[in-house]
Amino acid sequence: MCGIVGYVGPEAAAPILLEGLAKLEYRGYDSAGIAVRDGEGDVTIVKAKGRLKVLAEKTDEGRAVRGNVGIGHTRWATHGEPSEINAHPHHSDANDVVGVHNGIIENYQELKEKLIRHGYTFYSQTDTEVLVKLVDYYYKKYKMGPIDALAKTMVRVRGSYALVCMFKDFPGEIFAARKDSPMIIGVTDGAAYIASDVPAILKYTRNVYYIGNLEMARLSEGKTEFYNLDGDQVKKELVEIKWDAEAAEKGGFEHFMMKEIHEQPKAIRDTIASVVRERTEGGDASDPEKPEKIRKYVDFSEIGLTPEDIAGVNGIVIVACGSAYHTGMVAQYVIEDLAGIPVRVELASEFRYRKILMAPGTLVVVISQSGETADTLEALRISKSLGAKTLAIVNVVGSSIAREADYVFYTMAGPEISVATTKAYSAQLIANYLLAIELAYVRGTISAEKMDAMLTEMQTLPGKIEEILKDKERIQWFAAKFSNIQDAFFIGRGIDYAIGLEGSLKMKEISYIHSEAYAAGELKHGTISLIESGTLVIGLQTQSSLFEKTLSNMVEVKSRGAYLMSLTTFGNYSVEDAAQFTVYVPKTDEHFAASLAVVPLQLLGYYLSVSRGLDVDNPRNLAKSVTVE
Ligand code: AGP
Repeated sequence: MCGIVGYVGPEAAAPILLEGLAKLEYRGYDSAGIAVRDGEGDVTIVKAKGRLKVLAEKTDEGRAVRGNVGIGHTRWATHGEPSEINAHPHHSDANDVVGVHNGIIENYQELKEKLIRHGYTFYSQTDTEVLVKLVDYYYKKYKMGPIDALAKTMVRVRGSYALVCMFKDFPGEIFAARKDSPMIIGVTDGAAYIASDVPAILKYTRNVYYIGNLEMARLSEGKTEFYNLDGDQVKKELVEIKWDAEAAEKGGFEHFMMKEIHEQPKAIRDTIASVVRERTEGGDASDPEKPEKIRKYVDFSEIGLTPEDIAGVNGIVIVACGSAYHTGMVAQYVIEDLAGIPVRVELASEFRYRKILMAPGTLVVVISQSGETADTLEALRISKSLGAKTLAIVNVVGSSIAREADYVFYTMAGPEISVATTKAYSAQLIANYLLAIELAYVRGTISAEKMDAMLTEMQTLPGKIEEILKDKERIQWFAAKFSNIQDAFFIGRGIDYAIGLEGSLKMKEISYIHSEAYAAGELKHGTISLIESGTLVIGLQTQSSLFEKTLSNMVEVKSRGAYLMSLTTFGNYSVEDAAQFTVYVPKTDEHFAASLAVVPLQLLGYYLSVSRGLDVDNPRNLAKSVTVE
């Protein structure tokens, strides 16, 4: 996610901004910038692509930029490639309004068209420039003050944002508006600080205000005011931060992995919002008996995949590595079931050395969090050389795979720090579901009503994950009981088998416990000989049509001494006749079951690792991005 720092006080602002941004580097970024104002004078804006040190060199560590009021930003690209022109701060003409933003403006395209109709021009590809110019528009058109202009902007905008602005007419002041994206405000005698996260201001103060959703703030030397959406001033309680700097980077969690497990609801919401729209269909405004219907649909226009492109797809090959490959395994079942298109899933490291037979009309989908995995990148290049159209599902804007694919669907998981992927995996699942739904709708295998119903259900997944996370201590207790095991098996059929693959990898890569994911029906063909007294076998049972089949396999291994854990959906309480430990997840459309079932398995791997005293975020032998063969 982007990093924001702001300062107003008696000191030179630029060095404070640079130091604060450096404390936010862990959040991941690709460019940075600052805007500083010296009294009544004009604002100075300096931006740089790449690491913060480039910006520091351009500003002589901040000494070359005079002024005691300023805002700074490190950008994690979501709209528009990493570049100096796309870096924040962004500004309206004559720098009347200058701003930085962390979040995603979902309706920025329609707002951009509106502003163009009112004579605005745009220099960048970002949603943030649109946001800043919308504030400028309301500020000038209605001749309202900064707080009212920000309030009007918040009413008009859909999405998430932490927005910090300076107005030419208000030297010595900083204004902020927040919805969903984090933002805190620190105060000391004579100075006020604003930041997207605690580490940026811990050096100066532990006394902070948490600005609420749809609230605004006005900062000046030693004075901070808060306002609600009606423009009324609201009182805020000063809170003392007790975390140390390291804990603050992890949002108070012990490890980045647990922080990112908890960020999955937001990653899913943002990924869905990036391509799901609403439109009215049918109905007759003059006939109350025939109300218009609001229907959700998938809009791939920003990806460049038209319905015509999709209609021409008669086969899909999904190529990826590791957890990304596991999302492809889920996608295979979902796409084939919904769209009736044959899907093959390949390990990129195998794909690249095989004689590939690529039928005409094949769409190759490459999935990669980093967008830099060498095997996946090579598989993409081979696919293109064979004439296939390629769609990349990646999390890093401007990454190699993103740049070379024909189409790019960006997951909106934000930077993922922990080596073991969680939120990026979950966002990839969502991207695959959305692809399956669009393929099915364009091919006519699902109706507009079915698409609307599935997208509506998909939007309940974040809340259901939050419910699962409320019960994480129960997984922690179970992990402590099994922290000394040497082997574990994950068994399931269909999507449950694919879920098991990810659960097994999580356990292996961070707790170093050997485990295998097995198609439940395959056990009797040899592997069942490994089952001994006390062997942990985790049965995945989210697919109702396969529930009994898998249960019978679980009973088979139990009769040979296995300790059975079942992971199933609420209501399947009969499983407790066989399983010694059962984890329930909320019901959902069974195509989406992996999004819920994976969370307890992520937690199991995490707590096993912690109970064994291992380095959860940086497991031995592993790298976050495998850029070599
Ligand atoms: C998953 O926890 C691992 N970190 C690893 O399997 C990862 O998914 C794989 O290396 C693929 O990486 P990518 O998504 O960046 O291409």
